[in-house]
Amino acid sequence: MKYQCPVCHEALQALAAQTLSCAAGHSFDVAKLGYVNLLLAHQSRSRIPGDSSSMLASRSRFFATKAYDFLAAAVSERIAVHHTAGANLVDVGCGEGYYLEHYLRGVSDLNPDALWGVDIAKAAVRLAAQRKTGAHLCVAASRALPFFANSVHQVVSIFAPFDLTEIERVLIPGGIFHLIGPAVDHLQALKQIIYDRVEPHAGNFDPRLTSGVWQEIETSTVRQAARLVPPAITDLFGMTPYYWSATQAQQQAIENQSELSVTFAFDIRSFRFDGLG
Ligand SMILES: C[S@@+](CC[C@H](N)C(=O)[O-])C[C@H]1O[C@@H](n2cnc3c(N)ncnc32)[C@H](O)[C@@H]1O
Ligand SMILES: [Zn+2]
Repeated sequence: MKYQCPVCHEALQALAAQTLSCAAGHSFDVAKLGYVNLLLAHQSRSRIPGDSSSMLASRSRFFATKAYDFLAAAVSERIAVHHTAGANLVDVGCGEGYYLEHYLRGVSDLNPDALWGVDIAKAAVRLAAQRKTGAHLCVAASRALPFFANSVHQVVSIFAPFDLTEIERVLIPGGIFHLIGPAVDHLQALKQIIYDRVEPHAGNFDPRLTSGVWQEIETSTVRQAARLVPPAITDLFGMTPYYWSATQAQQQAIENQSELSVTFAFDIRSFRFDGLG
């Protein structure tokens, strides 16, 4: 698979070292770490879009505790069911690449050359590149994926914004979209410290996934209980949106916890795309 030029939508080729360019002469530098920035200025709302460096640092430290390895294994297992040799996989909102690394371990016949990670935050993509998995990594927005129509076999989105119209454009008919988000009881104990009344976590969803050109083919919930101690408590807190809605006193209450029992609970939903006909 080749990237599509975000300006004119022709193919990007590696015509010179450290550069991808299209026939019309639009060119994009490939960073030393191997990722490419395909985000055009008007495609991001803020100057530094996506997750902040401090959120990314919390997430990286938290992933290193292996607390989410069970989720990464379950998602890889689901992808593996639909993967055939030579087929490609795109992770939209791949963050700092923790899951990319797991797919390569858990999905047999998945070659790094068939794995593509996209995120709007350059700092996240840079961290993903430092994992040296060999996957293709680019900075781009979920609503302007730098891929050709009908070219992607599977798309995965984990706790990240996605644009269903764009996923319908890039997926082949029969392609699969895996959507992973929080189950209703995810991190209940953490939320109880912050909110007076705990509201179920909404997650990202698009109602169009339940009808028309989409068939929900498999849904499961995976759970794991854990007893966390600092600094994992504050790191978990710092990688979630709860941090940003908490008052200073609530943040302090979290930081003061010497241990916290939580349940991680995730919905893994897989949808088949029938094509736009
Ligand atoms: C909660 S994080 C999840 C990251 C990763 N999937 C994980 O589970 O570790 C959401 C990610 O989506 C990215 N993101 C936010 N808006 C985006 C957009 N419009 N297009 C692409 N990525 C976006 C953020 O930069 C961040 O890395
Ligand atoms: Zn071009």
